[in-house]
Amino acid sequence: MQIVLIEGDGIGPEVTQAACRVVAAANVKVDWVKAAAGIPAAEQFGEPLPEETLEMIRRYRVALKGPCTTPVGKGYRSINVRLRQGLELFASVRPVNTLPGIKTPYEKVDLIVVRENTEGLYAGLEHEVVPGVVESVRLITRPAAERIVRFAFELARHRGRRMVTFCHKADVMRLSDGLFLECARQVADDYPFIRFEEKPIDNVCLEMALDPSEFDVLVMENLFGDVISDLAAGLVGPAGPGGGLGLVPGANYGTRFAVFEAVHGSAPDIAGKGVANPIAVIRSAAMMLEYVGRGDAGARIEAAVMKALKVGIGLTRDLGGDGNTNTLTEQIIKHLAV
Ligand code: NAI
Repeated sequence: MQIVLIEGDGIGPEVTQAACRVVAAANVKVDWVKAAAGIPAAEQFGEPLPEETLEMIRRYRVALKGPCTTPVGKGYRSINVRLRQGLELFASVRPVNTLPGIKTPYEKVDLIVVRENTEGLYAGLEHEVVPGVVESVRLITRPAAERIVRFAFELARHRGRRMVTFCHKADVMRLSDGLFLECARQVADDYPFIRFEEKPIDNVCLEMALDPSEFDVLVMENLFGDVISDLAAGLVGPAGPGGGLGLVPGANYGTRFAVFEAVHGSAPDIAGKGVANPIAVIRSAAMMLEYVGRGDAGARIEAAVMKALKVGIGLTRDLGGDGNTNTLTEQIIKHLAV
């Protein structure tokens, strides 16, 4: 099977290579078709997201992607936002669960963040009205709002989940989140067997800090989803730099294509040192295998990661170990074999 591999930049090449090794060790034969994005693409093609890369994903339909750096406040627009919009990868899915051997103040976290990926404040509609005054448009459309809420309910149905929480700020953004909320309520009516909750996003943050085990599937617009994904990752990760970022996988689904990537960024502070935690990308690859019909191999990889965390040998520094990307990858491969 042919799958596009975008290594990205920063720690991207290190962690995606680790994921490719684990997929091979799970006896899944993948012909990785490399495509460029991020700093290497900008240097080589003068364009951080070349059209060829989008074309390759359109041709092969599935990609595993490492993180790509986006300069803050200047330079090019976020590659990730453009990739998601360009391929209409409208649903970002981030499962966050308590992991063996990782001490946190919380127990029994098992939630899935579903984020609308193409609109909201990340639609990229910004302009300068006059010098010193800028405007950002928060785009919400009925078709996209209905589509993402239906996606969340279908996900809940397929995975036997009990509840979907719609997160909003409709009391303040009365028109945009008002429309989103109206769509959410309408879609929820089609799923009477799944509990539906609607909650202001600030309440969600408070409740997550108090007792995240209360949540199941959460669905929300783009910016809220970006923030909640990192917050949720922090609930299941160890204290210290990176928190749970090195542990939480992610996927971006559209109707025709899918791109799998970790929640974390390019981590320039540790790039090139061989110490990055590869687990988030390895678990993203496991989600990818499920998508391409190799859920058996994906489940074995996920189980091997859990065993490696439980045994605790060769862990990376963010997990309190003295190992590195390579030692942790080898441990996961070792547990795959048994
Ligand atoms: P970051 O996630 O790259 O790093 C935040 C902290 O977490 C750092 O201390 C880093 O060392 C640590 N960390 C992240 N991943 C880790 C891993 N696998 N193992 C161990 N430690 C890890 O977030 P930051 O610094 O805000 O962003 C850096 C760049 O990445 C920015 O240009 C940003 O735009 C980009 N980014 C790209 C994403 C993507 O391509 N999907 C997602 C998020 C950020």
